[in-house]
Amino acid sequence: MNKERVTVSTFQKRKKDQKKITMLTAYDYPTAKILDESGVDALLVGDSLGMVVLGYEDTTKVTMDDMVHHTKAVSRGANRAMVVGDMPFLSYHLSITESIRNAGRLVQEAGAQAVKLEGGNNVVPHIKAIIEAGIPVMGHLGLTPQSINVFGGFKVQGKTVNQAQKIIDDALALEEAGVFSVVLECVPAPLVKLISEKLTIPTIGIGAGVDCDGQILVTHDMVGLYGDFTPKFVKQYCHLGSKIIGAVNEYIEEVKNGAFPQEIHGFKMNEDVLQQLREGGTSESC
Ligand code: KIV
Repeated sequence: MNKERVTVSTFQKRKKDQKKITMLTAYDYPTAKILDESGVDALLVGDSLGMVVLGYEDTTKVTMDDMVHHTKAVSRGANRAMVVGDMPFLSYHLSITESIRNAGRLVQEAGAQAVKLEGGNNVVPHIKAIIEAGIPVMGHLGLTPQSINVFGGFKVQGKTVNQAQKIIDDALALEEAGVFSVVLECVPAPLVKLISEKLTIPTIGIGAGVDCDGQILVTHDMVGLYGDFTPKFVKQYCHLGSKIIGAVNEYIEEVKNGAFPQEIHGFKMNEDVLQQLREGGTSESC
């Protein structure tokens, strides 16, 4: 497999060549390594971290330090996939300086190649400043989970003319601001098709139909590792949760009945040393 790093140019070329982009989320080193070796194009260290790894109810509790910590781990595991660090709640709203500083941390400290942030026209000045500082930005429209309290729940966005028009306008504003691609989450498929045709940058869908230029899923959802809630748009490709339960049950049983560990899992000792110990040891302390 070609091990050259996926870049913003790769994203652009895929759109031009009409070849799909694949993205998954990752939050730690071993998962990043497995996903990278599997050939996925980009790894998002999503603030979904808050829910699927840290056990919060939503993403609003996730901090910059959380994101830096997990992005560092993912960066160490990804050689080919582009690593995109998610900017958490309120990390790109307070001031332009603060937004650049926080985006910069994800690149400089944590090793991401790009950042993602939620919002449309309202965050354009922040996006422009981050890009001017040399950091590629991915947008995120539709159901933007950091605004869950404004939406009043995890609801499909863009079903009315006004809502749909706002998403179109925001998508065009993000493209104009210079984002290299945009995530569309929980948006009706026909609207996504329309937007994907209007934009020259790739759209990445989640719960957004097949007409996006790429797709993203939360890895813990698609491998069946997060059971608290499975959105309608998720396809579970395997059921790791039940596989882990099976393995742990077997382990418990084998520890209880003495089947584990076997001799091959342990370390041998020189018989003479053992004999000396049996006879009362030596004066050596170690
Ligand atoms: O945080 C996340 O995982 C995301 C994806 C759902 C796009 O933003």
